[in-house]
Amino acid sequence: MGIPSKQIFKIFPFIAIGLVLIAILYIVKGNDKSAVLYETHCQSCHLEKGEGLRGIIPPLAQADYLEKYPEKLACIIRYGMNQPITVNGIEYHEKMPPNAMLSDSEITNIINHVMKNFGNDLPNVNFQKITEQLEKCEEKNDLR
Ligand code: HEC
Repeated sequence: MGIPSKQIFKIFPFIAIGLVLIAILYIVKGNDKSAVLYETHCQSCHLEKGEGLRGIIPPLAQADYLEKYPEKLACIIRYGMNQPITVNGIEYHEKMPPNAMLSDSEITNIINHVMKNFGNDLPNVNFQKITEQLEKCEEKNDLR
C-alpha cells in the first residue's frame, strides 16, 4: 500500500505545475478583455492591426489624430462620427456608427487598448476622465 502513495507524490509536482499554467492562462485571458472588445466592436472596420482602409476608414495604428485629440475619443466611440477629418495627412468622410451599448468602463478599456497597441505608445486614460468627457459630449450633442 505504500507504493501507490509514493507514486502520487512523484506526479504531484506535475499536477501543481499544470494547475499553475491553467491559472496563468485564465489571468492572461481576463486581461485581454479589451482586445476582445476591440475585435467585437471596432475590428470589422479599423481592421486587425488598426491599419484602416486608405481613404475610407482612418487608421488607429500610429494615427496622429489619437495624439492630437485624445479627449475626443470617448465621444467618437459612443456617438459615432460623421464629419470630414484628416488622419496622417489623408482625408476621410465616411460614417462611423455609434456604440450606445458600450459602458463607460468598456470605452475606457478600448481606448487604452488602442493607445498601447498597433505600434502606438500613447498615455493611458482613466475611467474618471472618460466619464467626465462622456457627460460633456452628451450635453453638447455635437458628435451625434
Ligand atoms: C462601421 C465601421 C466602423 C466601426 C465599426 C468603427 N469605426 Fe471608427 N471610424 C470609422 C470611420 C468611417 C471613421 C471616420 C469618420 C468620419 O470621417 O467622420 C472613424 C473614425 C474613428 C476615429 C477617429 C479617427 C482616427 O482614425 O483616429 C477613432 C479614434 C475611431 N474611429 C475609433 C474606433 C473604435 C475604438 C471603434 C470600436 C469601438 C470604432 N472606431 C468602430 C469607421 C468605423
